[in-house]
Amino acid sequence: MPLSYADFSYVRDMVVRRSAIVLEDAKAYLVDMRLDNLAREEGMADATEIVAKSRGESRLQVRITEAMTTNETSWFRDSNPFVAFKDVVMPEVIKLRANTRQLFIWCAASSSGQEPYSIAMTLRESFPEVCDQWRVRIMATDLSGPILERARAGVYRHFEVDRGLPKPLLGRYFDAQGQDWSIKPTLRKMVEFKELNLIEPFPAMPSPDIVFIRNVLIYFNANVKRDILSRIHKVMSPNGYLFLGGAETTLGVHGGYSRHAGAGTAFYRPIAGAAEAAMAAF
Ligand SMILES: C[S@@+](CC[C@H](N)C(=O)[O-])C[C@H]1O[C@@H](n2cnc3c(N)ncnc32)[C@H](O)[C@@H]1O
Repeated sequence: MPLSYADFSYVRDMVVRRSAIVLEDAKAYLVDMRLDNLAREEGMADATEIVAKSRGESRLQVRITEAMTTNETSWFRDSNPFVAFKDVVMPEVIKLRANTRQLFIWCAASSSGQEPYSIAMTLRESFPEVCDQWRVRIMATDLSGPILERARAGVYRHFEVDRGLPKPLLGRYFDAQGQDWSIKPTLRKMVEFKELNLIEPFPAMPSPDIVFIRNVLIYFNANVKRDILSRIHKVMSPNGYLFLGGAETTLGVHGGYSRHAGAGTAFYRPIAGAAEAAMAAF
């Protein structure tokens, strides 16, 4: 039985409160389908039953919220941001960090790991001396516990490695594991995965030199986008670099960043001292 409109509204309000993900009315069929699947995993009859039980149980509310995330991703997604990262951003960051020889990259909303492992492969392929001689930290975060478990395991099905991963890199960085492919330990240990909900205060962290936060702001309303961009502005290195998804921009959302075009894509940099003025401007 499809969810009643009252149940759908309850789920929509709970999910936006817990994650900021906006579920449009047009997504009601998707909500139904995902909740039916989740209900079966939980040994319940259908979406209506799991929604009723979740009203008094925060564990189920977390599971429902996780089930509403869209985890679509691929290796070297959109390719050009990785070209800009390799050819424009990294050479600059290497100059900026030559004294400390420390590099900290934050990959937020990292889904099942293809994005942070693509970053790690780019570093290994093009900057081996940085990998070997610098302190390199790639922190990958996501809201969803189950998706982080998949990312940590680093095991991918054939159809997944078929999406954007160049064949030579498959040979160099993966081991065959039955029908699947497992990330080699050298690459796996370059990435640490942590649970982090972008709408909550960020935990203490060093200032990231580079932030990838791609294809997640699209799910949020303008105020939430602005708030997240504002807190990233505060935490990131003043000389840092920000990568957003192809359909995302800081323009018209947060005035504290300058936009730079390069390698067929755009990236952003914080404008010194602009964060609060930028917030006030919108
Ligand atoms: C479409 S995927 C993007 C993955 C990757 N960044 C890419 O571009 O391929 C969106 C990810 O955002 C995560 N997400 C959604 N809401 C979030 C929130 N409030 N905090 C942290 N992560 C969130 C989802 O769990 C999902 O894995």
